[in-house]
Amino acid sequence: MQIIHTISELRQIVSNYKQAGQVIGLVPTMGNLHQGHLQLVEMAHSKTDIVICSIFVNPMQFGEGEDFGQYPRTLDSDIDKLKQVACDIVYVPAVDEMYPESQLDGRDQTQVIVPGVSDVLDGVSRPGHFTGVATIVSKLFNMVQPDKAIFGEKDYQQLQIIRQFVRDLCFPVEIIAHPIVREASGLAMSSRNGYLSNVQKQQAAFLYRTLQILSDQIINGLRDYSMLEKQTELQINKQGFICDYVKICSSDLSPAGEKNHNLVILLAAYLGKTRLIDNIQITL
Ligand code: PAF
Repeated sequence: MQIIHTISELRQIVSNYKQAGQVIGLVPTMGNLHQGHLQLVEMAHSKTDIVICSIFVNPMQFGEGEDFGQYPRTLDSDIDKLKQVACDIVYVPAVDEMYPESQLDGRDQTQVIVPGVSDVLDGVSRPGHFTGVATIVSKLFNMVQPDKAIFGEKDYQQLQIIRQFVRDLCFPVEIIAHPIVREASGLAMSSRNGYLSNVQKQQAAFLYRTLQILSDQIINGLRDYSMLEKQTELQINKQGFICDYVKICSSDLSPAGEKNHNLVILLAAYLGKTRLIDNIQITL
């Protein structure tokens, strides 16, 4: 497995592979890899010839007071894990390589803003977050020029935003979604779960059970979505979380109506200082 730090080296290697007719897959990550990430790499392997995993904790997508400084950086163990799933290349750029000459972690440079789908849910709670994500993913696409890129459905809104800018800006890359990978308890895997104590991890599994109950209620015919959202928020708060939102949406993230058959229920809640998100998709 090759470990690359610079754009020029990366371009050279990728162009050699492309000339040899190899299909390139990209798995963008912020490191601190868990089973969820490794399954993305495995999926990339099944669909492409050469798999590149990028590891970059992107300062631009963290808001003031968020966990950028604290975000776990575990490069050595990430590299070991990537070797075990036969990743071909790890791209680990420094902040200066990604945002050269920027005084503000890229915020004083060109940004990719995706209106509409960025303006709801996490876009309201975390202003600027999705501009940071769309900008860095666009840059990675331009650097790596992958044929396919794989993203987890746990970040459902992020996935929709990436699909949108890929369409709008005509990036020649196929976006592939991987289903959420869960712990045996049902807790969606996330690097931020590392902030939770063992007791909190058990407690956090309540969020997925709540999503399952809510989806069963809808499948069984309940349609007062606004009442269901409020009721679920109260239940989450009663369990010791501070609920940010529970939203029942159509698959494009607009509010769900009676006529929508493909729904997604999304939630965000704090357990202590840790912000957790999860979602479940249902077809009626
Ligand atoms: O999902 C993530 O880990 C990040 O948002 C991503 C896509 C790697 C961009 O920094």
